[in-house]
Amino acid sequence: MLLPVVMAGGSGTRLWPLSRTLYPKQFLSLNSSLTMLQETLHRLGEVEHCPALIICNESHRFIVAEQLRKEGLAHSGILLEPTGRNTAPAVALAALQAIKTGDDPVLLVLAADHEIQDEASFTRAVLEAQKFAESGKLVTFGIVPSAPETGYGYIKAGEKLDGEGFKVAAFVEKPEITLATKYVQDGGYLWNSGMFMFKASVFLDELKKFRPDILCACQRSLENARPDLDFIRLDDEAFYCCPEESIDYAVMEKTEQAVVVPLDAKWSDVGSWSALWEISQKDDNGNAIRGDVLLEDASDSYLYSQHRLIGAVGVKDLVVVETKDAVLVAHKDKVQQVKNIVLQLKKAK
Ligand code: GDD
Ligand code: MG
Repeated sequence: MLLPVVMAGGSGTRLWPLSRTLYPKQFLSLNSSLTMLQETLHRLGEVEHCPALIICNESHRFIVAEQLRKEGLAHSGILLEPTGRNTAPAVALAALQAIKTGDDPVLLVLAADHEIQDEASFTRAVLEAQKFAESGKLVTFGIVPSAPETGYGYIKAGEKLDGEGFKVAAFVEKPEITLATKYVQDGGYLWNSGMFMFKASVFLDELKKFRPDILCACQRSLENARPDLDFIRLDDEAFYCCPEESIDYAVMEKTEQAVVVPLDAKWSDVGSWSALWEISQKDDNGNAIRGDVLLEDASDSYLYSQHRLIGAVGVKDLVVVETKDAVLVAHKDKVQQVKNIVLQLKKAK
């Protein structure tokens, strides 16, 4: 049986000022009436699966529980991390928790903050991937790259396998721009979508091989975890000792058992305001607007007002996001730097 695991502990700083430490991106409704977390679970509608396991920061527990309740989304537990240690520990904890029940399910590991517009193609890719995962492989979902983005993992597709998959010949997490450019020009590389599928035991065996320190800290924090209604509170002391690492560096770059299933489903990780502009509905002049906005001679801009009216005149490629206590004004080509404003804010505190 398939067990979805939703990783919902990220901070989404590039979508400031909407995304905040206390209310990060995965809990916002950015391009839908549902939040990204709710969309993530809804999209599993056509796939046969057990109730999902969610893993998030303990400070977001009520947001998660409430968002699931509101949409009637079933779950099999909410694991609470006292702090973020990135995705390798998060997935390890989910795999250990899954195995505790006595089964060894196939985990479908999902990011809680992605947009996938073509759900039928997503479902087809998941069903293809399930076959490889059941046979002991670690499956990634590969996206045809459109630009040399340095915020993604790059997968070199190797030998074609029976079914819609390829052996992973190489996995390079977040390469530098020169390498990323080479990979995109080469044509044989796919972006890692950040979703994975494998049997819980297969992932844990690989983690034991490459990062026994992470596995050990996760085992200890789960052994001493405290159940609290739907929540499972991990042991603070053990978890604080856990090294911080992403699944991509800890396992996917190193394993020889990886398979990539191509995914062509209008996927976006909504990693910035310009990415959100790309997937939003736009007027004839290429403006995406939300809330109270008046435009005169404006084009290719993203304008979001929560409280006050925005008037924009003679602007192009601009991002304006107005919230109660902060306003962002940025050039659409520079939105990756929004995270630096968040860093400045943290330093000032
Ligand atoms: N529970 C938990 N704990 N979840 C976390 C943590 C954590 O400490 N850190 C991140 N997450 C969640 C985020 O909320 C997100 O849903 C998912 O895990 C991925 O984390 P990101 O921090 O967004 O990763 P990334 O975007 O830098 O890189 C990953 O995704 C790319 C595609 O979007 C990698 O897998 C890349 O290889 C991939 O290309
Ligand atoms: Mg991401």
